[in-house]
Amino acid sequence: MNRPRSSNGDEADRPNLNNLNANMKDEKTTHSTTAAANNTNPTTAVINSNRIAYGQYQIDLYFQALTTGKKPITTTDPNKLEQQAREAMSPQGFNYVFGGAGEQATMHANRLAFRQWKVIPRMLRDTLPRNLSVKLFGKTYDSPILMAPIGVQSAYHPDAETGVAKACAALNIPFIYSTASSTPLEEIVAALEETEPPEPSPETEEPASAAEPTTTAPLQTPAEGKETEATRPHTSSTSTLVPDSKPSPSRWFQLYWPVDDDITASLLSRARVAGCEVLVVTLDTFTMAWRPLDLDTGFLPFAVGEGNALGFSDSVFRQKFTDKFSSSGEDQVEDNILAASRYWAGEVFSGHAHKWEDLATLRKLWGDRPIVLKGVLSVEDAVLAARSGVDGIIVSNHGGRQLDGAVPSLEMLPEIVDAVGDRLTVMFDSGVRTGVDVLKALALGAKAVLVGRPVIYGLGIAGTDGAKHVLASLLAEVDQSMGLLGAQTVGELNRSMLRKISYGGDVKTSL
Ligand SMILES: Cc1cc2nc3c(=O)[nH]c(=O)nc-3n(C[C@H](O)[C@H](O)[C@H](O)COP(=O)(O)O)c2cc1C
Repeated sequence: MNRPRSSNGDEADRPNLNNLNANMKDEKTTHSTTAAANNTNPTTAVINSNRIAYGQYQIDLYFQALTTGKKPITTTDPNKLEQQAREAMSPQGFNYVFGGAGEQATMHANRLAFRQWKVIPRMLRDTLPRNLSVKLFGKTYDSPILMAPIGVQSAYHPDAETGVAKACAALNIPFIYSTASSTPLEEIVAALEETEPPEPSPETEEPASAAEPTTTAPLQTPAEGKETEATRPHTSSTSTLVPDSKPSPSRWFQLYWPVDDDITASLLSRARVAGCEVLVVTLDTFTMAWRPLDLDTGFLPFAVGEGNALGFSDSVFRQKFTDKFSSSGEDQVEDNILAASRYWAGEVFSGHAHKWEDLATLRKLWGDRPIVLKGVLSVEDAVLAARSGVDGIIVSNHGGRQLDGAVPSLEMLPEIVDAVGDRLTVMFDSGVRTGVDVLKALALGAKAVLVGRPVIYGLGIAGTDGAKHVLASLLAEVDQSMGLLGAQTVGELNRSMLRKISYGGDVKTSL
């Protein structure tokens, strides 16, 4: 069996840690003691159990330090991760990830929005066994975390998309493949298939789903004793089953929507064949934004063929390129990378937004698997999305990389959930840096949360192992913090556990 190696490549046997971990006392807990005992490195210790003992990772890190003196492969401090990545990565690669649009006002507002919500923990509640699973579109996922689609990963580390996809697979986190990837989709799938997937979570078990049904109380409901009266159950009626999906590792496909329907059809057909379960259509990036850090260094990867792997490996795109650009009728993409790059960028970042009625084309091409719109920020668009027949939305401002001055997505999340949460699966991203951030978004009604930059910083610092460490740390923090908050399942998280503070928010906003 191919077991992923630890962050430090340390495969040495080590003793059972049960006595160190209060969570492990109870045989009925979600945590498989044998898994913890048998596994020999930090990130495998959290998998291969009936359910996943995410919090165990914290114990593993202490144990590693105590027994070997080894420190975590990247810092576990979210406020220091960015600086560590800056020191490890090439300046262009780092700037591309770190940078936001304009004066980065939205990027900072995303963090401030999180700081303006505080959690109200509840005491004297048994929070074991803890269950982080959620149900999305009829499928149970082990945790509410998804890997955000991030383009051009070869610019950050040679492990690139394949490394991040492997890290996600090791932790049962769905990997969302970006249209702007630097690795062809099929190459990643082949690499994943070489690695034995972790055991799937039992589908028969009743999940503590945030999605179906969930409980969402009105804002600022008094916490004391109100969970049952004040919560408002709603179900996601559009939870399309995914009949032909593989149990895990799970992958979704993100589309930058080409102008040419033939190319779109070809990309979606490949994504279906590759086993992508959900189509994520990104709406906010039909044109490049004003990004000063990249402008000042002249870094535009797509112009020189980087991040175009999906298009360059597409037979329909390639044939069209030859037909349009080859005077001899024989030139291939590789014969004129600059022209091919211009053609591809003109397709996916054309400057022309598609229209709501065009979604019918995507539905026809994608069939009955779920479609999710990413980049919805207004209640009005969320309502249009619900009417359009898609299955879900991701409330997102692209991490502040597109329209500078756009509202923080967290600010809009509750209103959007209230408007369409009974019809659409509402997910969230932009600004998630900590486990508690994840819990806040879930408590405000998100069914799942996408994580972006922190994982890429992990990748930039230490490749696949770095990405895996960041994800494992985040999951551990979600797990531990959920217990401290007084919740046993994701479905218990609701707005009665939150308070929006009336002062100006925390002063320190370094993230
Ligand atoms: C370097 C970088 C590249 C990205 N590439 C894509 C992409 O190809 N497709 C997409 O839909 N979103 C893309 N995004 C946006 C992310 O999916 C996500 O919305 C964003 O990272 C959330 O912000 P956060 O990372 O600050 O939390 C990218 C973000 C970053 C930082």
